[in-house]
Amino acid sequence: MAEINSVTTLTQEGDVAVLTLNSPPVNALSANVREGLFEGFKAAIASPAKAIVLICEGRTFIAGADITEFGGASKGPSLFEVQDMIEGAPKPVIAAIHGTALGGGLEVALCCHYRVAVPSARVGLPEVNIGLLPGAGGTQRLPRIVGVEKALEMVTSGQHVPAKAAAEMGLVDEIVPEGQLREGAIAFAKKAVAENKPLVKVRENNARLESARGHPEIFANFRKANARKFRGFMAPENNIKAVEAAVNAKSFDEGLGEERKLFMELMTGPQSAAQRYYFFAERQAQKIPDVPDDTPARPIKKVGVLGAGTMGGGIAMNFVNIGIPVTIVEVKQDALDRGLATIRKNYERSRSARPEETEKRMSLLTGSLEMEAFADCDLVIEAVFERMDIKKDVFTRLDAICKPGAILATNTSGLNIDEIASVTSRPQDVIGLHFFSPANVMKLLEIVRADKTAKDVIATSMKLAKQIGKVAVLVGVCPGFVGNRILAQRQREAQKLVMEGAMPWDVDRVLYDFGFPMGPFAMSDLAGLDIGWVKEKSKGESIRDVLCEMDRRGQKTGAGYYDYDENRNAKPSPVTEKIINDFIVKSGRNPRKVSDDEILERCLYPMINEGAKILEEGKAIRSSDIDVVWVNGYGWPVYRGGPMYFGDQLGPDKVLAKMKEFQGKMGDDFRPAALLEKLVADGKKFADFKKA
Ligand code: 3HC
Ligand code: NAI
Repeated sequence: MAEINSVTTLTQEGDVAVLTLNSPPVNALSANVREGLFEGFKAAIASPAKAIVLICEGRTFIAGADITEFGGASKGPSLFEVQDMIEGAPKPVIAAIHGTALGGGLEVALCCHYRVAVPSARVGLPEVNIGLLPGAGGTQRLPRIVGVEKALEMVTSGQHVPAKAAAEMGLVDEIVPEGQLREGAIAFAKKAVAENKPLVKVRENNARLESARGHPEIFANFRKANARKFRGFMAPENNIKAVEAAVNAKSFDEGLGEERKLFMELMTGPQSAAQRYYFFAERQAQKIPDVPDDTPARPIKKVGVLGAGTMGGGIAMNFVNIGIPVTIVEVKQDALDRGLATIRKNYERSRSARPEETEKRMSLLTGSLEMEAFADCDLVIEAVFERMDIKKDVFTRLDAICKPGAILATNTSGLNIDEIASVTSRPQDVIGLHFFSPANVMKLLEIVRADKTAKDVIATSMKLAKQIGKVAVLVGVCPGFVGNRILAQRQREAQKLVMEGAMPWDVDRVLYDFGFPMGPFAMSDLAGLDIGWVKEKSKGESIRDVLCEMDRRGQKTGAGYYDYDENRNAKPSPVTEKIINDFIVKSGRNPRKVSDDEILERCLYPMINEGAKILEEGKAIRSSDIDVVWVNGYGWPVYRGGPMYFGDQLGPDKVLAKMKEFQGKMGDDFRPAALLEKLVADGKKFADFKKA
């Protein structure tokens, strides 16, 4: 065995040279790895071996370029030099794939003459998710194997394709049994030598491109069909252009040049920087300084959910989906029946629904009217009405019923969890698990740490969140926690702006153009204006009151802030406009023209400022955690990183100056956070902040 460098070794198995890469955690193509590959292939080509296998140790094949290297000076051999060496090798090169071959990893594999994989392997070009395109020939080689349409879909979605599907598309030449990758790949290599198989160079395979030549409508149609999904993002368009170049360029190398240009445009732009930041933010959020990764988690084999309303049903589905049985308890039989029927309908409606799958999932659900049914649950999550007296009553009973060591969780949107925990004899077992609606769909989970929550309860919750496919962020107890507390700032300003003369559709348009999926007023219309509105008590004291009194309760009644046609398309409403203007006049003011800049600044800067307050109070561990909450839970455009990243890009000094200007004109809603003042005085950014 020859050690090529610290991450690469070369061994000889009969006639086959095996180059093994071992660079944890994911064998990313760092300078060291590129050097190992370059020197390793050079040695393997020079050796008497008749074929070469490239294989990786650890959890995965090469998962892509090393994202941490982006933006820095490049060292060692380039990826292109490595690829040229592999593709030009005078003997068959076989990539042996397990785990994931992603991005640059798949691009390396596509330069090998053949690819074998285990059934659990997945391949893909996910660069679009970090605002990039496959910049090492991926956009040129992929369509030469899978065809243009499939390539467009893969590079713009970043999907990971399972080995079997990859084999059907021609991306993988042979599937070998799980656990036998090395033997399988060596056997394939020997066969290639024995049968004198050709050294396939994907770059030379133009046949699959022919059918797309002279058909620009393929691209036009693809753009049109995905316009909504791609709105605001730069990377999907550049990915499409690069595949277009594969079809239209006169040679492979000309296409590659175009790919390079489009790649660099993204790499040096602000969107990819934000999306790369976000990639690491999401992983950073999993790290809790005083709860190390090896903190033992409590086993969760059975879950209880209290309340089968909007949230309880969705929460239960998360656990059933991964095979954990759930007991769901309600106060009345009809509420329980309704809740279970809604869950069933959700399963039946889901696209992948097969009747036996629905039945299997429903069989994991047990309904009951008795809280005693929770006695053997390892975790109980309550999702009953948002009232402190009810929550306290429920937790007193859970304390009496649940077994020792069971985790008692609340889904409260913002009540004080310390107070809830105080009625139990085991506050160390109490935690907030704040799901977002619809709870079976939304990715975000705010895990709320109360004063006395035990570390292993936090560790268990973080681990469980990952298992059910959520992105978890640990936050502290404060009204609204992190997400809703920041949202309250934007909502207040949106309402105030309207009372000064901006129309709801002006506010919505500005926030939509910024990149949010919808503005606050369109959102209210969608949710229903009558949530929390009580007809008997309504006295026309707010715009909402008047709208509800007129039965303009949102989309469901065909009108709310907006008017809706039969297809639910929104139109600005003269009725709403008159109501608003009447209110303004009644308040003794005149409506004024509010600029788009003012709308944006007044909605966003107080959010950033509130984020600073959250940080200084220690209610979030780091500023990037706040960004993860807002990107996942509230539709902050990921290509703008999140509110705190956005604040850092603007410069905390600019945020502070605006807050002061607004404070001078409009008062203490704009009082700058002490932390904001301090960061500016110290010349620092939110990302630099660490709570002592
Ligand atoms: N570069 C640098 N670090 C990476 C990385 C990469 N490409 N991919 C993963 N990591 C790091 C993570 O930051 C994490 O570090 P940490 O433990 O210190 O937090 C560690 O590897 C493990 O990652 P995950 O927690 O995400 O592990 P999972 O097992 O859940 O997922 C994965 C593994 C599916 C490979 C996932 O990490 C992933 O999707 N990685 C990114 C893949 C990607 O985007 N590849 C394309 C890169 S760009 C490119 O190749 C450009 C080329 O076209 C020129
Ligand atoms: P909901 O009104 O749809 O459901 C509550 C259910 O709890 C009802 O079915 C009710 O019959 C049942 N219930 C009430 N008291 C009970 C008791 N003592 N025992 C058993 N069941 C009881 O309410 P929703 O929207 O599901 O909210 C539940 C909790 O989730 C609240 O704390 C809310 O703040 C929180 N939440 C709500 C979100 C939303 O968007 N709806 C989002 C995040 C959190």
